[in-house]
Amino acid sequence: MAECTPIIAGNWKMFKTSVKAKDLVSALLPLVEKSSHCQVVVCPPFTALCEVATLVDSTPVCLGGQNCYHEDEGAFTGEVSPVMLKEVGCEFVIVGHSERRHYFGETNEGVNRKIKALYLHGLKPIVCVGETLEQRKAGSTTDVVTEQIRICLNDLPSEKLTDTVIAYEPVWAIGTGVTATPEQAQEVHALIRNLLGEMFDDEITSAMRIQYGGSVKPDNIKDLMVQEDIDGALVGGASLDAESFARIVNYNQ
Ligand code: PGA
Repeated sequence: MAECTPIIAGNWKMFKTSVKAKDLVSALLPLVEKSSHCQVVVCPPFTALCEVATLVDSTPVCLGGQNCYHEDEGAFTGEVSPVMLKEVGCEFVIVGHSERRHYFGETNEGVNRKIKALYLHGLKPIVCVGETLEQRKAGSTTDVVTEQIRICLNDLPSEKLTDTVIAYEPVWAIGTGVTATPEQAQEVHALIRNLLGEMFDDEITSAMRIQYGGSVKPDNIKDLMVQEDIDGALVGGASLDAESFARIVNYNQ
């Protein structure tokens, strides 16, 4: 792990009504409120953001959105803007998740537009990248991830970059129960760190946090977190249960 505060985020995806979200956060807070070794983020669906915002207010737990559109407002039916996310109390927003790329046709260029829009409103992006199984088997992981990083992070103001989080999520490990081995994850994290080094100065490169995501569980988090370039985790399924997410957050105990 690099010399920065690790960040562990729960991506709830399209799970939890606002009533269930309230139960989950109420159960989670007492389990993680003393976890000062890392930053904790929960990313509920849009409909539960207000409810969760009230509960995490004045606690160390931060709120995140799962997506946004790149305009402030307008005739974009079904979309949610950074201004709206900021107003309800979000600090982070996930962009470019592989499910968004796969089911909703998101592109690296679109992710770049979203990051710029988030910066305008003081929001911190969690930028997801990662290769599919076919791409890994074809030996193109390096090329795919390099292209994703170069385009998504193209032409960004350097003063905002240190607050930007990268999430390396191999698509074949998401929701499958198959985690990348710590060595496989570290290999791509080191590649990403090198790329950041080519694009930005040393201070930014070492401050930017790179999370691993893809079937992170209480029993594999420790081995992932000891890797040099793994600075946290983006957790899907295991974040839907307070106890399992808390065990992940408290990986140091
Ligand atoms: P998972 O999801 O932990 O359920 O594999 C991770 C993610 O998609 O962010």
